[in-house]
Amino acid sequence: MPGYPDGHVFYRSLNRQLPLAVRGEGCWLYDATGRSWLDAVGGAFVVSLGHGNKHVASAIGAQATTLGYINGTQFTHEPVEQLAAELARRAPGDLSHAYFLGSGSEAVEAALKLARQYWVESGRPEKTKVLSLAPGYHGNTMLALSASGRPRYQTFFHSWLVSVPRVPAPYPYRCECAGQSGDCPVCSGAALERVILEEGPETVAAFIAEPVGGSSTGASIPRPEYWRNVRAICDRHRVLWIADEVLSGAGRTGTWSALEPYGAAPDLLTMGKGITSGYVPLSVVMAPRRIVDVLAKGSGALLHAQTFSHHPVACAAALATIEEMERQALLPRVAVMGEVLHRKLEVLRAHPMVGDVRGRGLLVGIEFVANAATREPFPRAQKFAERFAQAAFDAGLVVWPNTGHANGVDGDLAMLAPPFIVTEAEIDEIVNRFGAALEIVT
Ligand SMILES: Cc1ncc(COP(=O)(O)O)c(C=O)c1O
Repeated sequence: MPGYPDGHVFYRSLNRQLPLAVRGEGCWLYDATGRSWLDAVGGAFVVSLGHGNKHVASAIGAQATTLGYINGTQFTHEPVEQLAAELARRAPGDLSHAYFLGSGSEAVEAALKLARQYWVESGRPEKTKVLSLAPGYHGNTMLALSASGRPRYQTFFHSWLVSVPRVPAPYPYRCECAGQSGDCPVCSGAALERVILEEGPETVAAFIAEPVGGSSTGASIPRPEYWRNVRAICDRHRVLWIADEVLSGAGRTGTWSALEPYGAAPDLLTMGKGITSGYVPLSVVMAPRRIVDVLAKGSGALLHAQTFSHHPVACAAALATIEEMERQALLPRVAVMGEVLHRKLEVLRAHPMVGDVRGRGLLVGIEFVANAATREPFPRAQKFAERFAQAAFDAGLVVWPNTGHANGVDGDLAMLAPPFIVTEAEIDEIVNRFGAALEIVT
């Protein structure tokens, strides 16, 4: 197995040997020795259509041979025009215009800069502050990292980060009210208003948050009124609400946007990951005319130039992904198979080290605890989540571990987000392998 310091790859993990993956098919991955893994998390919440989708592959090839690259300041092209229209049709509220980038971090970075530019060009330059939820994650570039309520990722970079006041994230499992009280300041959204008032509403430009918890809170689901309350608070104080759907969007929770069941629409929205099912990198910032118009009448452009934005091949891949989702009716399938997955995972609750199983659609978080009655987390030194993920990997199951959500240091989660084409037999296999890995670790 290859690994550092062999060869010339600066590996993402410098102290592990990695299998040499050679092929993917459906929910399965294969290495050069013929070993197989059930990819229960689509790599990193990315592979929604499954591996080896021929329709997307041929759309990419066709676009590359027709028009591989042009610069978005000089030309527009069919794939970008069509994709923007498709996304506008699906987006919540009045989000009508799509600005394309490569990664989720870039989309977050651009959305935050757009919010700031909008206020400056609207004659409100004093609106500079960004608020975000903690725990929460928005990416690894400097502004996105500043907005991320994930202290460990910031360890070496504090002197480069901007200050982003935090609002406690709705996280029912670790809230005193267990998500049961509409009067709880955290679970109702009132905590956001408190922070806006403390900071001074006239100074607050934007509030960024994940509609459904990503890895930071392990698929925590806010109360039904949470986002409508957030909408009202942001309107009251003229704060732009940015919904970061890089992970939760493009169908992962059973609706195109995870906000649909909440009946609330943000001012700006980001998507990434599953938007091309991972065949090529693509992310998007969606904005309404009322915001874009301000730039159009003012400076004339978003001050955020990137060479690969509005990329033809990436846009063609996203269009083909949407076509496949429609052809195979995958959105309704996510809702149905999500229920199957959640029902079958219920068996894990009997395990003494499983504190919670939660999520929506094909997005699941399983929280591990040292004591299920008190919800006490394992001490970080035990590295429970990492050891669990390794045991699962050894058992041929790819999951996503996460740590630190309980108190910033302790806390162990495993997340599942299988491709939308996952079958019931594969779900059984996921549950079996998950249980087997849990036995090994405990
Ligand atoms: C909610 C959210 N926003 C932003 C990002 C950053 O995306 P990327 O890793 O593509 O830069 C992620 C990545 O996990 C995410 O989950």
